[in-house]
Amino acid sequence: KFEGLAETPPLGWNSWNTFATDINEELVKGIADKFIELGLKDAGYEYIVLDDGWMAKERDANGNLIADPVKFPNGMKALADYIHSKGLKFGIYNCAGSKTCGGYPGSRGFEYQDARLYASWDVDYLKYDWCNTEKLNAEGAYMTMRDALKKAGRPIVFSICEWGDNEPWKWAKDVGHAWRVTGDIINCWDCEIGHGSWSSRGVWKIINLREDIRKFAGPGHWNDYDMMEVGNGMTDAEDRSHFAMWSMLASPLIMGNDLRTASKETVKTLANKEVIAVNQDKLGIQGFRFSNENNFEIWLKPLEKDAWAMTFVNMSDETKSIDFDWIKHGFGDDLNGKWVDLKQQKFSIRDLYNHKNLGDTSSNLKAEIGSHDVLMIKMVKK
Ligand code: DGJ
Repeated sequence: KFEGLAETPPLGWNSWNTFATDINEELVKGIADKFIELGLKDAGYEYIVLDDGWMAKERDANGNLIADPVKFPNGMKALADYIHSKGLKFGIYNCAGSKTCGGYPGSRGFEYQDARLYASWDVDYLKYDWCNTEKLNAEGAYMTMRDALKKAGRPIVFSICEWGDNEPWKWAKDVGHAWRVTGDIINCWDCEIGHGSWSSRGVWKIINLREDIRKFAGPGHWNDYDMMEVGNGMTDAEDRSHFAMWSMLASPLIMGNDLRTASKETVKTLANKEVIAVNQDKLGIQGFRFSNENNFEIWLKPLEKDAWAMTFVNMSDETKSIDFDWIKHGFGDDLNGKWVDLKQQKFSIRDLYNHKNLGDTSSNLKAEIGSHDVLMIKMVKK
């Protein structure tokens, strides 16, 4: 694969969660404009990714993919140019199988030709799906596309979308820059629809299904917990928790809402630079569940310079208080063997959603947290 890409988790937007295959040039240009207007580019978002449905139903006489002429009358190169003119990057979608999940032409047998075409359109990111792949070996299929992209010569982030059945975290480190770990997300706190690999899961169902794979993530190779549902119908509190958790998990932060109609509160959550900084921390260590008691989940993520991010999520249906005794709990990370002795070492505490300093670890941390809301803090050595 291309090295040196996605050294921190990719930040961007993808069309699928809100629009499915109902996409077009005006929509995508409008989203690019909103990246600038709403301060999302400034907050670090970069990739605008078209998902399934951008193609015509058949390849042309030379076997080349063509953009749907009604949805994208000026073609993909013109769209890429527009996105690049805003200082952003352009992503596209295809599938390892004979057809995409939506029934458009897949890349199977056309990998090198498609990779050359994307490079000629100045594509910067490829999401590569896993429908209609009968008898294909997943590792081999993704390696083929990786090699094709490499050969085409343009640095393209390669995002593996295989849903976790073939455990890509075990083999994809040198194949792609991120790999999906589950089937599709839906816009709910902890519901599940369907069963097995065809399940769609809410935020906590996804988190709970894949909490044992953090050691496989790192700079250039991330566990992808799927595109976000922030702004797609959960409460603002749930959106804050969802966004905090994707940051703690060092997952790609790919927005999935309609930015043209997003509420102020939604934009405030998505553009929160202090939370994004946790996701983008250079160490690239995925966070982990530290405890789960009395209706609170507490998550920890080691950060650069011996700092930590800590997130308290109120899982109950009512507002609850915390009175957190630092000394009693202590904290650390078995993965990098770092444990902190809070009797010896004090940390200052910063509230990342309310943008306030909350003193230090020499006294208990006290706060009221609303139902399904979050207290997300950064701790810096004093
Ligand atoms: C399945 C993927 O998991 C989704 O994210 C989306 O890309 C659809 N396929 C598109 O058909």
